[in-house]
Amino acid sequence: MKALVLSGGKGTRLRPLTFTCAKQLIPVANKPILGYVLDQIRETGITQVGVITAPETQGNVKDYVKDGVQWGFSVAFIPQEPLGLAHAVKTAQPFLGEDSFVMCLGDNVTGQGIKAFVEKFEKENLDALIILKEVDDPARFGIAQLDKDGNITKLVEKPKTPMGNLAIIGTYLFSNKIHQAITHIKPSWRGELEITDAVQEMVNLGFKVKAEILNTWWLDTGKKDDILSANAKILDEYVKRDTRGNVENSIIEGRVTIDNQAKVVNSTVRGPCVIGKNALVENSFIGPYTSVGDNSQVINSHLEYSVLLENVLIKDVERLEDSLIGKNAKVTKSPIARTIKLHIGDYSEVNV
Ligand code: DAU
Repeated sequence: MKALVLSGGKGTRLRPLTFTCAKQLIPVANKPILGYVLDQIRETGITQVGVITAPETQGNVKDYVKDGVQWGFSVAFIPQEPLGLAHAVKTAQPFLGEDSFVMCLGDNVTGQGIKAFVEKFEKENLDALIILKEVDDPARFGIAQLDKDGNITKLVEKPKTPMGNLAIIGTYLFSNKIHQAITHIKPSWRGELEITDAVQEMVNLGFKVKAEILNTWWLDTGKKDDILSANAKILDEYVKRDTRGNVENSIIEGRVTIDNQAKVVNSTVRGPCVIGKNALVENSFIGPYTSVGDNSQVINSHLEYSVLLENVLIKDVERLEDSLIGKNAKVTKSPIARTIKLHIGDYSEVNV
């Protein structure tokens, strides 16, 4: 069995951050989302991993994944024009050969690994196992309908009038029969070869296509608020108290990780949160569910439920919350500063 990780696409919904960063590399709890996906693949014991990349961001993705040795993988990078998820599988066919594979979207995170799904797929000798989750907003996702035995009967990509609330979450297991199904489909209204259509074609061809419902959280980090939610979930689940950094005259409450090269002075930090390498927090309050990226500085400010990427400066800001701040951005004081909400890109400067 192999793994195919989709780390291409355009990332338009996360602009401007995605002008300079692949969306799969946006960090939550100071680690790129793609890293969590690769960790979950490692747990399955799969070692041959194909990584789909887009022309604009392939350099970034390669710099992060490198040769995969950190995860024990052998990695093949597969460049692709973003023409759809099924197009990505088609492009990866020389890498996949006749093998079954698990396909993971590089921007989706879940609170549960994929090992159990791989085991079920193999044990039941399936042609496809699609992981689903109930959602409140089915029009945003691919939606599946099941019969009483858990077989998929119908799938529709982002239906205007949803026929249910079971969304496709971005973890798919396929036998090599998927390639045959892809040869039968045409691009959708959005000009993409949809994996949803390919799975429908597998159903039509009478292949064994089953579903499994995820019983934990799942986030598709397509938009700013999804990144903040993913950050909060991951901080909640994984952060341990580790305050090895340089802490002076400060109160550190709860599960807070302070990098041993970070500095916290005259401040209060309330977990769960992480403070990255060479970061500085001075005369400030850092509230729950906040990640301060490497080399970032928070000075004379109050920050809550936010994600700062690398090398950000927050200075003299009375209250900043629900914010996602790109690399090298600066947010500094105005005389009438109040609570502010921002979604700004790399190299932006905001003076409020
Ligand atoms: O997030 C789950 C949803 O993902 C499913 O419910 C949908 O059925 C599925 O089509 C997909 O929808 P999105 O519109 O959210 O897909 P997106 O364009 O965001 O792409 C998902 C990931 O795949 C993302 O990491 C980028 C990558 N990708 C995307 C395309 C279109 C590629 O690598 N190549 C591509 O051609």
